[in-house]
Amino acid sequence: MKFAVPTLVATIFAIILATNSFADVPQTERTQAQPSTTNEAYTPGLGDFMGQIQMRHAKLWFAGKSKNWQLTAYELDEIKEAFVDAAKYQPNFKGKPIAEMIGPITAQPIAQLEKAIDAKDTVQFEKAFDTLSHACTSCHQDNGYGFIVIQRPSLPPLTNQRFTLKR
Ligand code: HEC
Repeated sequence: MKFAVPTLVATIFAIILATNSFADVPQTERTQAQPSTTNEAYTPGLGDFMGQIQMRHAKLWFAGKSKNWQLTAYELDEIKEAFVDAAKYQPNFKGKPIAEMIGPITAQPIAQLEKAIDAKDTVQFEKAFDTLSHACTSCHQDNGYGFIVIQRPSLPPLTNQRFTLKR
């Protein structure tokens, strides 16, 4: 293959130019991450806690429907813990006392769920689950988020976890 000499020279010149323009960028800007300028620890937002709670709420349903009562109790405990954390880290949300609202809104449905789980009673579990979902939605309504409506899930949120126990 033959190249016309002027074309070859022009190409080489272009390559040198391009390489030099990279060399002008200071080393730190190209490869090194800048150290963080903030000393504040990361605090999850209320919506982050809610996303976790939503996942557990869905798992709670499939665990209960599968009569895997240990898992059902576990998921309910995780929901309770997430509410405690939400109250601790986001006690006030847009002027609303979230920490003070959680207890009165969720205590009764959670107690109902605990009773149903202890009794291994699927019918009571379903009722209590719906009561909890309504409680979730009612708090959303109280906070101007009435468009976030919680209901029974129709499909498991993840397929890499089996809800039924082998007998
Ligand atoms: C004490 C009040 C309160 C209770 C109780 C509550 N929520 Fe929320 N939830 C909120 C508020 C306020 C937001 C909006 C948060 C934001 O935008 O940062 C929210 C947002 C959400 C979202 C939207 C998050 C997203 O990323 O899409 C979901 C889903 C959700 N909640 C699920 C639930 C479920 C499930 C329950 C019940 C098990 C529940 N919430 C109980 C106040 C509540």
